[in-house]
Amino acid sequence: MRVEQALRNRKSCRAFLDRPVDAEIIRSIIAGAARAPSNGNLQPWQIYVLTGNALASLKQATRQHIDDQAPMPTPEYQVYPKPLKDVYDQRRQAIGEDLYRVLGIPREDKQKRRGQFAKNALMFNAPVGLFAYIDRSLSYGQWMDLGMYLQSVMLLCEEHGMATCAQGYWTFFHETVRQATGAPDMFMLACGLAIGFEDQSAPINEVHSARVAIDDFAVFVD
Ligand SMILES: Cc1cc2nc3c(=O)[nH]c(=O)nc-3n(C[C@H](O)[C@H](O)[C@H](O)COP(=O)(O)O)c2cc1C
Repeated sequence: MRVEQALRNRKSCRAFLDRPVDAEIIRSIIAGAARAPSNGNLQPWQIYVLTGNALASLKQATRQHIDDQAPMPTPEYQVYPKPLKDVYDQRRQAIGEDLYRVLGIPREDKQKRRGQFAKNALMFNAPVGLFAYIDRSLSYGQWMDLGMYLQSVMLLCEEHGMATCAQGYWTFFHETVRQATGAPDMFMLACGLAIGFEDQSAPINEVHSARVAIDDFAVFVD
């Protein structure tokens, strides 16, 4: 598969099939993505992969929290700044509305919207849960490196016919995730990544996220 094709194919999958993923393929993807560049070759990615009972227990614990209608725990870091500038807030709201429109859930139906949001806790039924950590002592530059690593994982998954969904959602449940992964406290959870095979019959997977036009974000100076 050409890189361009993998880039075009990749999208956030929010409904996965009940189909297991070959453990060796996952291992090769996790290893292969480490060819991503990093400033000073620090390779700051710390990856934990949960499958089987380990992932099932994490999903169950998190889902229980949601079912109990307990307040969302405090994330370890603020994924979005508060307030979020209008320009970004509008983009964020637009993708949310696109998702709920496809599902036919109106703005007023808070319960159904919460129900859909809660599917994050089940990793949208994905059989593999990757959790990306970063050493707390590191800085902005290394977060950039981690992002490049994660995009590399996502593109390699595409090449293997698999789908992914990055999930900042897990930052709320960093303590529950830490119990499941056993990651030491010096590592901070950056995000989760659901991996599996796309359920192509699920309406939510029809969403095609928009992008701003090139001249709205790129300047060419000759
Ligand atoms: C770091 C990161 C965290 C994300 N967190 C979530 C999440 O918690 N739940 C979710 O459904 N999508 C999440 N997404 C997916 C974004 O909403 C998605 O990438 C964006 O809307 C663009 O759509 P696309 O990935 O289909 O191109 C996340 C994406 C990234 C990169």
